[in-house]
Amino acid sequence: MLETKIETKLPRLVTPLPGPAAKRILQLDSRYISPSYTRSYPLVAKTGRGAMIEDVDGNVFLDFTAGIAVVSTGHCHPEVVAAVQKQAAELIHMSGTDFYYPQMVELAERLSSIVPGKEPKRVYFCNSGTEAIEAAIKLARYHTKRDKLIAFYGGFHGRTMGSLSLTASKAVQRKGFGALLAGVTHIPYACSYRCPYGLKPESCCTECATVLEREIFKTIVDPEEVAAIVVEPIQGEGGYVPGPPEFLLELQRVCRKYGILLISDEVQCGMGRTGKWWAGDHVGLEPDILCVAKGIASGMPLGVTVARASVMNWIPGAHASTFGGNPVSIAAALVTLDLLEREYIENARRMGQFLFGRMADWRERHRIVGDIRGKGLMIGIEIVRDQKTRERAHDLRDRIVELAFRKGVLLLGAGENTLRLSPPLVIDEEQADFAVHTLDECISEVEKSA
Ligand SMILES: Cc1ncc(COP(=O)(O)O)c(C=O)c1O
Repeated sequence: MLETKIETKLPRLVTPLPGPAAKRILQLDSRYISPSYTRSYPLVAKTGRGAMIEDVDGNVFLDFTAGIAVVSTGHCHPEVVAAVQKQAAELIHMSGTDFYYPQMVELAERLSSIVPGKEPKRVYFCNSGTEAIEAAIKLARYHTKRDKLIAFYGGFHGRTMGSLSLTASKAVQRKGFGALLAGVTHIPYACSYRCPYGLKPESCCTECATVLEREIFKTIVDPEEVAAIVVEPIQGEGGYVPGPPEFLLELQRVCRKYGILLISDEVQCGMGRTGKWWAGDHVGLEPDILCVAKGIASGMPLGVTVARASVMNWIPGAHASTFGGNPVSIAAALVTLDLLEREYIENARRMGQFLFGRMADWRERHRIVGDIRGKGLMIGIEIVRDQKTRERAHDLRDRIVELAFRKGVLLLGAGENTLRLSPPLVIDEEQADFAVHTLDECISEVEKSA
């Protein structure tokens, strides 16, 4: 068995960044790779283990991105690697759309038992988050025989044409691609730090949901034509914004009242990242359809659309995907579920608490820290030019991300001006402490020159 070796659990930088081997890759990348990718800094990864990434020059970084919230059980967890190797040696592919294999039903059964709601579930397998959303859109239209959809400003649901029609996170993601799916209405997402209606946190929260009955259903779309409301319980790409409980529950109430399906996009916030299986579990959300990807298979490509059994009533041939739910990804997912259940969901909760504790006085100590929010290991820090005006400071945020890289900590931004902390769920206190200490230093340095 191949053993991944990274001996240290804290960063160790041995060359200037990028190092000579990285420079060669970057040159080739700039010549051959699609220029649509958005790299924040020149990390060229070679090896991963736990929360650590070693680059092609032997520099070791502490990964607080988890490959965009994907490697939930850390990089190359030995049990995941063993399961992948065993499955690859046995059966790599047979297409679950036309044939059967045991792992597929095993994972479906396990997911059914952890997705909330009393009704039995049915599970559709695909390869990515965007495909899970495409399936949800098609299923909602098919089942309800309605075609309109409600989504939210700041929402991110993927980049294929259907999911892109729901995405309203950054204009560049839509620009140049022409007409998208008709019948999608976007409304504001509740954010207590930046209430779209200018209200105080106490009175905000439900306004963004009550607007549906108060205005949207009277002026734009009749509720009887709405197939689904699609929402992230915690917005991810939009800036790590947790939906307030009252807001999410009001959406659920409106859905039930008008026979609209509630589609919960847990692609980024699900799979234990927030300290519970689903971010919606913190408020008691029971969606009709739940979409999962990213963290479910520790880095192997897998997307899942789980629906109430009576909702998933489409007929053979209505929807499928050749690679969806391939046995190797499913083997990785089964072990991932075990590991999350055994220790990492609880670790995410504990480490989240630890990190929030360490950052508790940052708003007093750092004049450019506007808001610190999130749950478990899904934490957003808004960087502003001034705490009073709350002017977004994306340039300062970007400098902090770049500086952290130079100090050996991998971070990403989310939204216009938010730092995202989304480490693998395996980090320990020493690593959390190191990351938060480094980030503190980076913010101080950037603040001094701002
Ligand atoms: C909430 C959410 N939904 C959907 C997607 C799309 O997932 P993928 O990139 O796997 O297509 C993402 C990706 O970031 C996401 O964060």
